Amino acid sequence: MNPAPNLVLVGPMGSGKSSIGRRLAERFGLAFFDADREIEAQAGASIATIFECAGEADFRAREQVVLAGLLAGEGAVIATGGGAVLDARTRQLLRERGFVVHLHVDVEQQLARLARDRSRPLLAGDDRENVLRRLAEVRDPLYDDIADLRFDTAAMGAADTAAKLGHLLDAQWQMAATAGAAHP
Ligand code: S3P
Repeated sequence: MNPAPNLVLVGPMGSGKSSIGRRLAERFGLAFFDADREIEAQAGASIATIFECAGEADFRAREQVVLAGLLAGEGAVIATGGGAVLDARTRQLLRERGFVVHLHVDVEQQLARLARDRSRPLLAGDDRENVLRRLAEVRDPLYDDIADLRFDTAAMGAADTAAKLGHLLDAQWQMAATAGAAHP
């Protein structure tokens, strides 16, 4: 049993962090936060607009602040954006404040799941496959470095994945109360 005050999902775009996270929160009776949506709410702008008007570095700074805030609380399931692990401070906080699950998905699956998506600025160009492969090269070791559990979502749907993962978490994750504030 691995104690941690929050359950955190990391992994690449299209790995199902939000849909699986929402289901896991329901299963465990916890609050659910999607870091991307929190960033948008705080900025009053979409991620695409933040990237376009302020640039990726500005987005990453916002992402770091939002995740630090979410991780200061406890009793939440938190879905992170695919690039959240690029920041060393965030990685440290994830280690300290989360039971971290790396949702793994291969590039072919990502391409299929994201085929109709037009909201992700990093996938706005023509060669999505190449972009996803390059991102995976850099990020996969970072996901694995901080993960307490690696879970391959393979060809499963969100409901099946959440059910199977929930079962594993029953045995592996113990929600630990700390001095952090409970999420509202
Ligand atoms: C990003 C992933 C996105 C979002 C932003 C950047 C990335 O989140 O944070 O578009 O760098 O991989 P999802 O992983 O939820 O798609």
